[in-house]
Amino acid sequence: MHDCKKTLIKKHFSHYTVENFYCVCAMKKFKNIVLLGAGSRIAREIIYLLAKESAEKFYFISRSDSANQECIAAVKAINPEILCNSVVYDYTDPRSLTGLVERLDPKTDLILTAVGKLIASSEQDPVQLEETIKVNFTYPALFVNEFINRIYKENSCSHYLTVGFISSVAGERVRGSNYCYGASKRGLSGFADGLRVYCEQNNLKVRICVIKPGLVNTPMIRDRKDRRLIAEPDSIAPGIVKNLKYGTRNIYSPGYWGALMDLLKLMPYLLFKKIRS
Ligand SMILES: NC(=O)c1ccc[n+]([C@@H]2O[C@H](COP(=O)([O-])OP(=O)(O)OC[C@H]3O[C@@H](n4cnc5c(N)ncnc54)[C@H](OP(=O)(O)O)[C@@H]3O)[C@@H](O)[C@H]2O)c1
Repeated sequence: MHDCKKTLIKKHFSHYTVENFYCVCAMKKFKNIVLLGAGSRIAREIIYLLAKESAEKFYFISRSDSANQECIAAVKAINPEILCNSVVYDYTDPRSLTGLVERLDPKTDLILTAVGKLIASSEQDPVQLEETIKVNFTYPALFVNEFINRIYKENSCSHYLTVGFISSVAGERVRGSNYCYGASKRGLSGFADGLRVYCEQNNLKVRICVIKPGLVNTPMIRDRKDRRLIAEPDSIAPGIVKNLKYGTRNIYSPGYWGALMDLLKLMPYLLFKKIRS
């Protein structure tokens, strides 16, 4: 086959084939799990599956104890033996980040970040815009960075750590309708990609997965009028868990969003700017 064609195929289909094949060789079972954003419906479905499979210990982090306690009750109903910890955290104070990660178990083998805030482009309040950028990008990025550099690296950990950042397909090609949300998710995906390279360059056994859901039926999109292509959280969770175990770098969820995003990225700008949703 012509070299140019081979490169094109590799570029556009790598996340469906080559990476998955490569990752099958190193499937992991997660025992010590940290969830940033215990209120997230998507994350909860993932957690429940892990509780049924291999989990032994959870740390649930969120702004309110009630979100953590809901998770703990559901996990205990699945398996009462699992140890569960609730950590209430004020995201707005970055100085407390060190204290937060020091409370976690250095043996953590899965970190899942799920915090996210959707905002329409009609919202122009700078306070809301700043919070959106922080929730989607700053909080999860700094949290994982602090854990890897202060806990995993400084304790010379040698076990595999998998990090699943829940980003979004909205960050693949940022649309006009939610550009602040899309841009902050694009920032998170880029941060994750760079962190992966940093970890590999420093021989850290850290696998970084970027989860890119399409539309999912959670409180985040409850006001959306067009209900087409919306998946249920419990229907996407098994695919996400499987790919986290494999360490897949980009997890489109459901999988067809990968192909849709490839098409969207190829779309000429003149056509792209007509998309209003
Ligand atoms: N639903 C979708 O269609 C969709 C599509 C693509 C990507 N995603 C992403 O998937 C992830 C999970 O979202 P979800 O759909 O499960 O929505 P969800 O159930 O509404 O959960 C939202 C999460 O974000 C946290 N959060 C929201 N505002 C916050 C703030 N100001 N400060 C700190 N934390 C805040 C919540 O925190 P607490 O835990 O403290 O309550 C909760 O954990 C998000 O990153 C979202 O961007 C969702």
